[in-house]
Amino acid sequence: MKKNNPQKYLFANWKMYLDLAQSVKFANELKKEVAKLPDNIKLAVFPSNLAFSSVAEVFAGSGSAVGAQNVYWVSEGGYTGEVSAQMFASAGAQFALVGHSERRHQFHETNHEVRLKMEAILDAGLTPVLCVGETAKEHKAGEAHEAVEAQVRAAYAGLKWPAKCPIMVAYEPVWAVGTGVMCSPVDAEKMSADIIALVKGLTGTEPTVLYGGSVRSKSVATILAEPHISGILVGGASAKKESWMEIIHEAVAAQ
Ligand code: PGA
Repeated sequence: MKKNNPQKYLFANWKMYLDLAQSVKFANELKKEVAKLPDNIKLAVFPSNLAFSSVAEVFAGSGSAVGAQNVYWVSEGGYTGEVSAQMFASAGAQFALVGHSERRHQFHETNHEVRLKMEAILDAGLTPVLCVGETAKEHKAGEAHEAVEAQVRAAYAGLKWPAKCPIMVAYEPVWAVGTGVMCSPVDAEKMSADIIALVKGLTGTEPTVLYGGSVRSKSVATILAEPHISGILVGGASAKKESWMEIIHEAVAAQ
């Protein structure tokens, strides 16, 4: 089957792994690598809030993007500790993760809050990368597709989508995130095909689907070979120079 999008997305979610100095150093090292990448490979880095603007400055004009790991849905005001989508946009963000499983499960973020964030991210002119995925319990009970469908519906149903904004969904089974256990490429492919059909039904547009959850260099080629998977969202292995460079090289070699 033909890929619906020849562009490949390599997204690095640095979570809370790197401090300011480490983030800037790594960004500068990556910038050199990025200059050698083929045009159809799009790299984006999601640094901590602390390092965001410094990393954005490093990548400015490089062809690589920076994104927010999380945003607040109000644009400004008395919300101690929060950063709005507008603020990230003004500091050079192109993307924002929304509904990451660590936000949903460790910070009890609800589908309703995810929806408010989707709207705020779109209003700020950024591209939301909606993260969805079933828990281990739902996976074992054979309820993965229902769980993901509920998250997708809550995020997109009735949402007015700006024509120019791409739709991106990261399928990240909760049990595969940060565990070292990857979802089988066959199951990830099935889920991605379902997500594409569902989002197309809700918005009229086919989304780009990324896979995330314990991606390593040895699994990159197989996952990117799946027809409905257009990229990867990598956490732990993207925050270390050696493993992230290996992943990038494997992705390029798999072209
Ligand atoms: P992981 O995280 O690669 O460490 O499993 C993926 C993610 O959280 O996006």
